[in-house]
Amino acid sequence: MVKICCIGAGYVGGPTMAVIALNCPSIEVVVVDISVTRISAWNSDQLPIYEPGLNEVVKQCKGRNLFFSTDIEKHVSEADIIFVSVNTPTKTRGLGAGKAADLAYWESAARMIADVSKSNKIVVEKSTVPVKTAEAIERILTHNSKGIKYQILSNPEFLAEGTAIQDLFKPDRVLIGGRETPDGLKAIQALKDVYAHWVPEDRIITTNLWSAELSKLAANAFLAQRISSVNAMSALCEATGADVSQVSHAVGKDSRIGPKFLNASVGFGGSCFQKDILNLVYICECNGLAEVANYWKQVIKVNDYQKNRFVNRVVSSMFNTVSGKKIGIMGFAFKKDTGDTRETPAIDVCKGLLGDKARLSIYDPQVTADQIQRDLTMNKFDWDHPIHLQPMSPTGVKQVSIAWDAYEASKDAHALCILTEWDEFKTLDYRRIFDNMQKPAFVFDGRNVVNVEMLRDIGFIVYSIGKPLDPWLKNMPAVA
Ligand code: NAI
Repeated sequence: MVKICCIGAGYVGGPTMAVIALNCPSIEVVVVDISVTRISAWNSDQLPIYEPGLNEVVKQCKGRNLFFSTDIEKHVSEADIIFVSVNTPTKTRGLGAGKAADLAYWESAARMIADVSKSNKIVVEKSTVPVKTAEAIERILTHNSKGIKYQILSNPEFLAEGTAIQDLFKPDRVLIGGRETPDGLKAIQALKDVYAHWVPEDRIITTNLWSAELSKLAANAFLAQRISSVNAMSALCEATGADVSQVSHAVGKDSRIGPKFLNASVGFGGSCFQKDILNLVYICECNGLAEVANYWKQVIKVNDYQKNRFVNRVVSSMFNTVSGKKIGIMGFAFKKDTGDTRETPAIDVCKGLLGDKARLSIYDPQVTADQIQRDLTMNKFDWDHPIHLQPMSPTGVKQVSIAWDAYEASKDAHALCILTEWDEFKTLDYRRIFDNMQKPAFVFDGRNVVNVEMLRDIGFIVYSIGKPLDPWLKNMPAVA
């Protein structure tokens, strides 16, 4: 029986391995992690991450050929194929601080593999890593090899949170990069055989190691660039009276462009886009490609601009001050159908409003109060470390309260800010909400989910990103 061990039981390691185990009953899959709480949660009925469909998949194979364990060394030493799916945070100090990937967790995983292995291994990079990481990993492994042979493969993960299970079941492509040597090709084939249990062969792409590593960074940079492009257009729409939804529909109809990822919003978030672009920027700079680095940096700058612009719209519309005013925050996760808050635009928007002394009442159907308080007090980039190594937030932010539902968050509020596109925000009883708010009552829709005309008829003053401006906002300063 082939044995797979995955180091890192997070958003990628957990769902990916569950789907492999479900589709490959002849393979034993063990997911290991240094975080005891994470592994206990995977072994309980309350999984550590929220992902539609995940519970059902895990239920079917947990205890059959899918296991979660903290006994890392045992399972690594027994495995034929080891996936490494650990955190790759942005460095906060030293060389490349604020841009380069911190490979400390990766390196410690590689050293541990070298220490405990007694048989040949295929080591698969699942984490997103800088180009040429495989070379560094290879060096660590072979320097301590005791005659054991290692083959390094790059198999970046393209799943999107919120749709992870369907992405894993029907991936657009699976990418496997490896050495172009006989042993390298054999290792590529071994991993291909795993995916071939359920992925059609023409969707499994094989490349050299560096193409696979770079393709992951490039794909995320292109996706984030689309969001920044449409968000840049949204500012121009507001200035001209164009409607960004109409513009993106017209643009996306061009089959060379396509309709996806063209929704204007308060900005992109998630654990990957910013981190991966910063990483790409750093690699460009290290290779003397300053212009290329600046080109990609701009994608992040437009994202920051969009979040600032939103905060400024809120403050300037409300008589230039939100001091002491209650604002209901609808949604905190970085997108719908996930409880993940890593790099969510809600953090910067909330911090911006708190900077102007607002009182916030935050509601999100999937994010815990503790997580929100932690996010609002944590330093930039600290989130991307294993949970038990993250600094504790001693006290929450005083001006922030957490609400159980949208109605509680909006009660007596002066304004609502919609920051995540949860479906339930489309069908709230906005008449009831309006009746319980201070007047004038504002709605700032950062995800374009509400029916603007209907809300204006009720009496709200509505700002919706990239849409023709409410007369109220027309003479207010807009630019950050
Ligand atoms: P995560 O933070 O949810 O999970 C990483 C896990 O690794 C943590 O549970 C941590 O305790 C564990 N860990 C760290 N060092 C370890 C060690 N030495 N031994 C054992 N366990 C260790 O991170 P996530 O989101 O799963 O991401 C993992 C990688 O995949 C990152 O490189 C990320 O950029 C990449 N990625 C993430 C995607 C996403 O949507 N979240 C999508 C595609 C790639």
